[in-house]
Amino acid sequence: EKSALTHWYKGHLLAAKLFHHVLISTDEGKDAREYLRQRGFTKEAIDHFQIGYAPNSWDFLTNFLNKRELPMSEMVECGLLAVREFDKKPFDRFRDRIMFPIWNKQGEIIAFGGRILKDGNPKYLNSPESDVFNKSQILYYIHEARKVIRKKSEAVLFEGYVDVIAAWRAGIDNGVATLGTALTEGQVKLLHRNTDKVILCYDSDNAGQNATFKNAKILEQSGISVRVARLPDGMDPDDYIQKFGGERFSQDVIGQSLTLMGFKFQFFRRGKNLQDEGQRLEYIQSILHEISKLKHAVERDHYLRQLADEFSISLEALKQEQFQIYKSQS
Ligand code: UTP
Ligand code: MN
Ligand code: MN
Ligand code: MN
Ligand code: MN
Repeated sequence: EKSALTHWYKGHLLAAKLFHHVLISTDEGKDAREYLRQRGFTKEAIDHFQIGYAPNSWDFLTNFLNKRELPMSEMVECGLLAVREFDKKPFDRFRDRIMFPIWNKQGEIIAFGGRILKDGNPKYLNSPESDVFNKSQILYYIHEARKVIRKKSEAVLFEGYVDVIAAWRAGIDNGVATLGTALTEGQVKLLHRNTDKVILCYDSDNAGQNATFKNAKILEQSGISVRVARLPDGMDPDDYIQKFGGERFSQDVIGQSLTLMGFKFQFFRRGKNLQDEGQRLEYIQSILHEISKLKHAVERDHYLRQLADEFSISLEALKQEQFQIYKSQS
């Protein structure tokens, strides 16, 4: 008698192969192929990330797994299938979706993310949490990226699988993703085991930028030094690569990432009108607070000068103000 876990892994692997086959070589996969082509997914990327398509059926995967004699109860428990409320009959959870396998750090498929082809809700449907899939502990693609991360002594952190895959096409093969914007201690540890440098590359919308600010702090507190990639307003990494191409992404976005302080300079500006005196002073205060937290005098001096130059304030006045903040903090 095989253990349930073996069945879970096997079910996921078989499902991934099946979905991939449906995507690349069946009639049913035609719209999905066209969708991916329009979004710039290459055949190479589709194969490398084992992307697939779950057809619009209630029993396609269910019948397939059943024929392979995988216990239905276990296929439900691991989230591959769902059950009807009234008679507990299993059915396909993922229907008419592009399927992204999600691996654990050992490289076993433990879940799927499914994206709807057209507009609709939810846009992304992930497998439910299970004994092996804890969304907040997963770093997507770490099983493959870890060796590159070690070699390059650096990781790039994205919001999701689509961005990791787009970046990979652009030659950024040390990218991993949280599934959404939350970053946990477990994920930080997993990163830190492989590198102490991370480039944050989240979406440029408010959610992404606020998470960048928050996650940068978490990473720095664990001893990882952070840089931040900057994207034009309203874009995410995948949008950027589709619009400007991979070369510009790797050169101008990843290559020109900001220091954390540089990011904060522009983060605190968001939504502020610096022509307005009150808002300008608020901005300067926020930056001074951040400068006060810097450990090295040389660094503090550098950014104080930058601030002084930008707003034509005397360096002396800024230094005094910063010293007051410093004293009140310690
Ligand atoms: P986004 O909400 O930024 O996706 O989620 P998006 O860029 O608008 O999606 P597209 O480009 O139209 O396809 C970023 C990532 O967060 C994960 C997914 O991996 C997604 O790629 N995510 C998002 C989830 O896992 N679950 C969700 O409910 C939402
Ligand atoms: Mn979105
Ligand atoms: Mn987002
Ligand atoms: Mn996005
Ligand atoms: Mn996107």
